[in-house]
Amino acid sequence: MELRQPVVVVLGHADSGKTSLLDKIRGTAVQAREVGGITQHIGASFFPIDTIKEVTGPLYDRLAKSETPIPGLLVIDTPGHEVFANLRMRGGSAADIAIVVADVNKGFEAQTIESIEILKKRRVPFVVALNKVDRVTGWRPFSRFISEEAKKQSADVQTMLDEKIYTVVGSLSRLGFPSEAFWRVKDFTKEIAIVPVSARTGVGIPELLAVLVGLTQQFMGKRLERHEGAARGLVLEINEEPGLGPSANIILLDGTLKQGDSIIVAKRDSAVQTRVKALLLPKPLDEMRDPRDKFKPVSEVTAAAGLKVTSPDLEGVLAGSPLYVFDKAKGEDELERLRSIV
Ligand code: GTP
Ligand code: NA
Ligand code: MG
Repeated sequence: MELRQPVVVVLGHADSGKTSLLDKIRGTAVQAREVGGITQHIGASFFPIDTIKEVTGPLYDRLAKSETPIPGLLVIDTPGHEVFANLRMRGGSAADIAIVVADVNKGFEAQTIESIEILKKRRVPFVVALNKVDRVTGWRPFSRFISEEAKKQSADVQTMLDEKIYTVVGSLSRLGFPSEAFWRVKDFTKEIAIVPVSARTGVGIPELLAVLVGLTQQFMGKRLERHEGAARGLVLEINEEPGLGPSANIILLDGTLKQGDSIIVAKRDSAVQTRVKALLLPKPLDEMRDPRDKFKPVSEVTAAAGLKVTSPDLEGVLAGSPLYVFDKAKGEDELERLRSIV
């Protein structure tokens, strides 16, 4: 049985360090290119499983090993500013699993709670990354593994970290979720794992990724099985690509999308059927919303993936619209069904 990439959405309050955390993993400088440090659009990055194995090291076998490994993670960053609630909702709709990032010194803030409410409504499992642990007063760096580094702190600092973790456990409890620091979690299906991390030093990132991959591989297998069914995706945004005409950044969630496929998407007042002119794929580890010649045209793409679709009739298509492939062999009834559900 082959599994597709799980779609991981990163949610949380503004400036909690979502982009920095992804950046640290990716090793590029997406954040430096963002106007005012705010993520204005949703981007997607693919992390191949080999990269994840490299980062997690010996933890992979302990927390994430599986007979049916995932090919990697497709990670969607979202902005935390309150005006971008629509982008967080869209991220939530696309997600198989989520990372909720919170600032360890601030605990849960307005958009942390809003994000968790979105995930709760959609029943998306999540892990909490308690970021900026390097900023806990008196904290000293020792390791890339948080479980080792935490034990080496002074008694006072250890107590302070524990207090901050329990504040978050309390906040999660009020939202209806039992939780624990990940090293105390006995059953990852019943308790939310809290992983202290630092996007600055990178400590805790191995544990965060191992817990995430472990959760997906051990408990989401069925949902991630590849099948032959019709392709399905989500439109993140529509833009005009120089020389290409109107194009859509989409997340392909299921199936295979081919050049020439007939797709159904939603406009404000109606559903529209159009033909896929070109499929453009960002190269692994690159950021979709800043192409810079990093796209390559392909004849087909298999889920899950973030990609750009060009087609003559995409103007006016709604960001957030579902996208379905219409199989002509299934006839007019199927077309009507798809038109009614987008
Ligand atoms: P939005 O996209 O606006 O929601 O913010 P974000 O959650 O993506 O936060 P971002 O990555 O832009 O980080 C916000 C600020 O916190 C930046 O100045 C980062 O350098 C800083 N920062 C992020 N992570 C850490 C960390 O682990 N330690 C320290 N000391 N600073 C951090
Ligand atoms: Na920011
Ligand atoms: Mg950001």
